[in-house]
Parts: sequence; structure tokens; C-alpha cells
Amino acid sequence: MILDVADLSVDYYAGRPARAVAGVSFTHHAGEFLGIVGESGCGKSTLLFGIAQLLSPPAEIAGGTVTFAGKNLVQLSAKELRAVRWRDFSVVMQSAMNALNPVKSIAAQYEDVMRAHGTRDRAEIRERSREVLKLVRIDPVHLKSFPHQLSGGMRQRVMIAMALLFSPELIVMDEPTSALDVVAQRSLMVQIKELQRELGFAVIFVTHDMSLVSNFSDRLAVMYAGKFVELGQTRQVFAEPLHPYTKGLLEAFPSIYGPRVQLEGIPGAPPNLADPPSGCRFHPRCPAVMPQCKDVDPPVVVVEGTEVRCLLYEEKVSGVA
Ligand SMILES: Nc1ncnc2c1ncn2[C@@H]1O[C@H](COP(=O)(O)OP(=O)(O)OP(=O)(O)O)[C@@H](O)[C@H]1O
Ligand SMILES: [Mg+2]
Repeated sequence: MILDVADLSVDYYAGRPARAVAGVSFTHHAGEFLGIVGESGCGKSTLLFGIAQLLSPPAEIAGGTVTFAGKNLVQLSAKELRAVRWRDFSVVMQSAMNALNPVKSIAAQYEDVMRAHGTRDRAEIRERSREVLKLVRIDPVHLKSFPHQLSGGMRQRVMIAMALLFSPELIVMDEPTSALDVVAQRSLMVQIKELQRELGFAVIFVTHDMSLVSNFSDRLAVMYAGKFVELGQTRQVFAEPLHPYTKGLLEAFPSIYGPRVQLEGIPGAPPNLADPPSGCRFHPRCPAVMPQCKDVDPPVVVVEGTEVRCLLYEEKVSGVA
């Protein structure tokens, strides 16, 4: 086990406090690929920022721990964190390709990161920079290039290469492919997966596109309104989705196989997190809603190895239904 997130909560203090991450717990193992999916605004980026300790005001960790390699990251000082980040785990953020400095060459930006972590030797910096670019299949001549001279897909791969400079154990990625066209998305996804197999790092991959991660992730977490509502083996979740929200997400994506069917999707939108619904946060949109769902916040129940937060299964497990 390399990462243990326990009961992590994050609040935004802007006007009324909003709990964007509400008691998320999971563990992550070396070399494993975890996909996190959910609609826009359900707290995926906030969760990643909370794990990587990259939150800034008005966001604040309200509780919980993030244990990475035996240390609780929540309690580390900024200096201690800098030593771990990039070296042991790295982060590729949403719209990362716009995170590159437009007035510096790729070589200069890689050099900055390596120097900040104590690598002073110019030849070593040059060699490692060339290596990581080759890993993402970009010709090292582009070390001299500036970001505007590269395509969107290349910039995204340049960011992923930057995350690989120190061979971290864990790479956290927030929709790294979402700015790309569908073909480029798939090919970048395949490349990330190949690198992961080759280099053995673990990945936490956030996306709103379930079909994108279906073939790549070992485990899948479905997030709704700040909580994991389902977490299990990806294959199992796709074969037998348990939570009504997961079912709705799956129905929202067309299948290219099989007969034509009407897409159901999920009517409505995720709630305002400053004023979430009582009980199960999904109950106002849930097609399987029961009277008690308004009052009871569903605990986690394990069904065939999958964790699910839904009263439908609590009753089955306790034998009431
Ligand atoms: N700076 C902020 N101040 C106040 N509230 C915020 C802030 N940033 C995000 N939020 C709230 O936190 C919630 C979660 O936002 P977050 O960006 O984590 O969602 P997300 O799942 O990553 O969405 P997307 O798929 O669009 O990237 C949202 O409801 C949003 O309104
Ligand atoms: Mg996001």
C-alpha cells in the first residue's frame, strides 16, 4: 500500500462554507491504476488537490489524513512537502498544458524542476530531460522549443514527461486528456498505460468520461457531491453497477455495439455543495429513491467486493428486504 486516504474532507470558505469533499476514504497500491469519475462539480479536482496538498484559500482541509509512504501529508510543512512532491509523487493538473511557462523553453522548465530538487549537474539534467521526452515519444530536439511551438497533445505529453523526471511512485492526473480531440485522447491514454506498465508507477486518474477509463483502470471510484458512492474493480463496476448514480452514468454513454437504445442519462444536476440535500445526497435525482433516503446518509456496504453507499444494499445485506 502506498497511499491511504482516510475520511478526508475539504471545505471552501466563500460565503457559506461548502464541503466539496465529504469524508472520502480509500487505499491505493503500488503500480495500481485508479479511475475517479463523476459529473462536473462533484469534487474530483478538489479531492486531488487535497491529496497532493495543493489546496489554496478559500479551500481548506477540514479533517482526515493522507498517508503516503508512511507520512501524513496533511501535517507536513511546506518545505517537507516540496521534498516529497515531484520526487515521490507528482501531479498533472486539469488543463496542465496551459500550466507551462510560455516564455521558457521546455529544457529550461525541466531544469527548474530538477534544480529545485537538488540536481545541479547540467549533463545529468540534460540527459534526464532527453530521456523523459523520449518516454512520451517526443523528439528531444523539442527541448529547445517553447510551449507555443508545440501542439496541444505535445504540450500535454511534455507535462506528463515533467511528472516523470524523478521516477515517482505515484502520479495523480486530473483530466490530462480532456483538452484533446477524441483520437488524441485515446492515443495519450494508451501511452500513459504503457508507461505505467513499463515504469511501474501507480496512477490516480480523474475524468468525467467513464468510457475513457474503462479499459485502463484497475479500480474505479464513482464520486457524487463530494463522496465516493461506489468503489470497486473496474470490470465488476461495469458489469454490475450497484449505485443508481453509477447506472445513470453508464447509461449516459452510448454503446457502439448492440441495438439502438434511448439514452437515459440522469435528469437534473449535482447539488450546490453549500446546501446539499439531506440524507443521501443523490436522493432528489435518484430513480430508485425510497422514503428513508431523505433522512439517512447511507453508510458504506460491501457487495461482492464493491463498496457502495446506498440504502438499497443495506437492506439486502441486513436481510430486511
Ligand atoms: N475556489 C472555489 N471557491 C468556492 N467553491 C469552489 C471553488 N472551487 C470549486 N468550488 C466548488 O467545489 C465543488 C467541486 O469543484 P471541483 O472543481 O472539485 O469539481 P470537479 O469534479 O473537478 O469538476 P470538473 O469535472 O468540472 O472539473 C464545486 O461545487 C464548486 O462549486
Ligand atoms: Mg475538475
